[in-house]
This record gives sequence, structure tokens and C-alpha cells, in this order.
Amino acid sequence: MSGPARAGGGYRVPFARRGSVVGERDLAALAELVHAGGSLTSGVWRERFEERFGGRIGARHALSVTSGTVALELATRLLDLAPGDEVIVTPQTFQATIQPLLGHDVRVRFCDVDPDTLNMDPGVLQSLVTDRTRAIFLVHYGGNPADMDPIMAVARRHGAVVVEDSAHGIGALYKGRHPGALADIGCFSFHSTKNITTLGEGGMITLARDEWAERVLRIRDNEVDGVYVPRAAPKDAPALLPWMKFADGVYRHTAVGIRGAGTNATMSEAAAAVGLVQLDGLEQFVARRSWIAGRLDQALSAFEGVRLHRAAADSRHSYHLYTFFLSAGREVRERFVRAVDRLGVEIQLRYFPLHLSPEWRLRGHGPGECPHAERLWFEEHVNLPCHPGLSDAQVDHLVWAVTRALAQAHQTPGLARTG
Ligand SMILES: Cc1ncc(COP(=O)(O)O)c(C=O)c1O
Repeated sequence: MSGPARAGGGYRVPFARRGSVVGERDLAALAELVHAGGSLTSGVWRERFEERFGGRIGARHALSVTSGTVALELATRLLDLAPGDEVIVTPQTFQATIQPLLGHDVRVRFCDVDPDTLNMDPGVLQSLVTDRTRAIFLVHYGGNPADMDPIMAVARRHGAVVVEDSAHGIGALYKGRHPGALADIGCFSFHSTKNITTLGEGGMITLARDEWAERVLRIRDNEVDGVYVPRAAPKDAPALLPWMKFADGVYRHTAVGIRGAGTNATMSEAAAAVGLVQLDGLEQFVARRSWIAGRLDQALSAFEGVRLHRAAADSRHSYHLYTFFLSAGREVRERFVRAVDRLGVEIQLRYFPLHLSPEWRLRGHGPGECPHAERLWFEEHVNLPCHPGLSDAQVDHLVWAVTRALAQAHQTPGLARTG
């Protein structure tokens, strides 16, 4: 295949301009919602979406919010972290996973990753955990489920809460179970690039404890985060009470022990209506991602020095990200990335190890803390486009470009073609 690499100034194969697919069924749901003429917020669509989502993944509670970032912020609040507490986190994720911890006076310990999966390594976790460990934040990197059984065993032994950032994990399976419902709190993103979207932005928090769900319900609806004690209506208000919209919340309860302000994290009815349709399409979206990943795996397997990012035999990868490792040295990786870019394939490398980013360096973190995460990032890690928005022709071009770029690198010692 040949021809201009970039059509119309853009990439012929974009990384994930819109990783999710929005179509006629989503539009029909929106039309139904608009024609029904009811409220555009806090209504039946949201309830249905939460119920269906929670039921699908097997979560005790599933509450929709406005983004994955907000879900992670709420998760962090629920922990009631205090000075001196320790939190163990993965370094190989998007910054939103651990950003809320910057606002707390806690000791953050970065846990190195398993070099095959880029997920938190349970063995390293064991070496970092102490009796002060209050929480563990991990991600299912790229949609490849983290090895949760040994992680949960460590967490349970030490009474630590495990927060799963499952922004990539929807559609994946860990030993037949769903990421985001394998631990205590799960956080999902329905951003435009994710495996399903709620019209560009949106999120869900899943919770194993009733008390947490009650708190999230209040916080996301602009009530203070506190403990409520019922009391009688104040003397100056009773005549107006029937007309006060939130009479019960405002006038019949006293908030004691306020932990913080509320916010508005309410998912719109339009977003929820689309979310329901997207959930129906999830298996199909993941199947398409897996098919593209299969084509790439096959092409890449023909080369030495390539390691694929595969799920364990008893798990399923959701291929939110397609990742592989080029173990022929930093220069070869860089040459390959530049060559693929020239051939019209957009590459975005995800993610820079967080302990090396400025905000965490300011808190004393730096090189040497996570040797695997650092080496893989600086020398081997590659992400390629893989999403259902790609046509068959784009996938053909992708495979051709990747093969050609690797074949050019064939001259380089350590990267020979085997097939
Ligand atoms: C791993 C991970 N966590 C959290 C987020 C934040 O989600 P959102 O964009 O919905 O705020 C993202 C991506 O956007 C992500 O990739």
C-alpha cells in the first residue's frame, strides 16, 4: 500500500480522535429523551444507566458522575486520609488516578510495575505495605487487568482500601469478573476516547460499602459531606416548609462533623441515555478493538525484539490501549516511532511515569523509585492506534506502516525479522 501518509493535513490513522463510536441508536435515545419533555437532569435515564451498569459489572453500588477524574476525587475523599497515613500507588497511569492525593498530607509510595503488563506488581506491593497503609490506587493499564487476587490478599491483611482506576478496564475480565468491582471502590471514565462514552465526558464510581454510597449521593448533589442528625424544623420556617423544595435536607436535619463541601457532579439525562445505548454496544466495541489488536500482534510477532502486551490466559484485555515493547534499545524505539509517524500513523505514548512528573518531584519523588516503569518508558514502550473508529482500510494502512517501519529497523542489530 502506498500514497500520501496524511490526508487533509491530519494523520491517516489517528490515535484516538474519538475512540468510541456514537451512532444512530444513540441519536434515537436522545430524540426519545427530548420528545418525552421531562427533566434533563437527575431522572429515570440516570437511574436506569446506574442500575444496568452496576448489574453488568456486579458492583454493590454504581453512581454516575461527570468524569473519571471526579470519580477519583470522590474516592479519595471517602478515605478520610489523615496526616501520617500512607498510600501506595502505581506510577504508570494518567495523572488523574493519583492527582487528588496531592491535596493530602500523606506519604505516597510508588509501587513498581510488572514489566509484562505495566500493572502494579503484587510482589513489590508486599514490600511497600506497612501498618500505616490506608489505601492502594491501581489502574488496569490499557485494559489489561491487574493481578487482583494477590493485591487484595495484601490489602486485606493490612486493612487497606483498594481503589481500582477502571477507566481502561470496562469490557475487560479478570478470571471472569469485571474490573471496577474486584476491590472496594471502582472509578470509570466515559471520556470520548474510552471504550464507551457518554457524549464526550462522564464517569461512574462503584462502591462496596453502603455508607460510601450515601456520602457520594449527598456530595454529588451539592450537599455538605457530613453526618446528619434529624431535628425539628426551625421555628421561623414552618409556614413556608411545604414550598421549600429541599425541605427535608435543609430544615429537618442538622449536619454535624462536616468533612467538606458538596459539589455538582450530576450526569445529565442525555449522557445517561447515551450511556445505556453504549453499554449495549460494549461487547461489539471490544470485539473490534481485539480484532485490530490481533492484526497488530500478528504483524509484530514476525520480528525479534518485540514483546506483546497480552492478558493472562484466564483474563480478557479490553484493548483500550494497544501497547507493545521494543527491546532493541532506546534509539531503535525512537527511530521506529518517527518512521511510523512519517507513514501517517499517529502515536501517543501513554504514560510518563508519574513519580518523575513535576508535581510529584516537588514532593520528593524521583528516578530510581520504579526501575521497571522507568526503563520501559524510556527505552521500550510503544502505543499504537486501536479503536473502533478505524475503518478496515485504516487498519490495513496501520499494519502496513508498522511492518514497514520495523522492517527498516531490521538493519539494526537486535531487531531481526523472524518470519
Ligand atoms: C487511567 C485514567 N484514569 C482517569 C482518567 C480520567 O478520566 P476523565 O477524562 O473522564 O476525567 C483517564 C482518562 O481520561 C484515564 O486514562
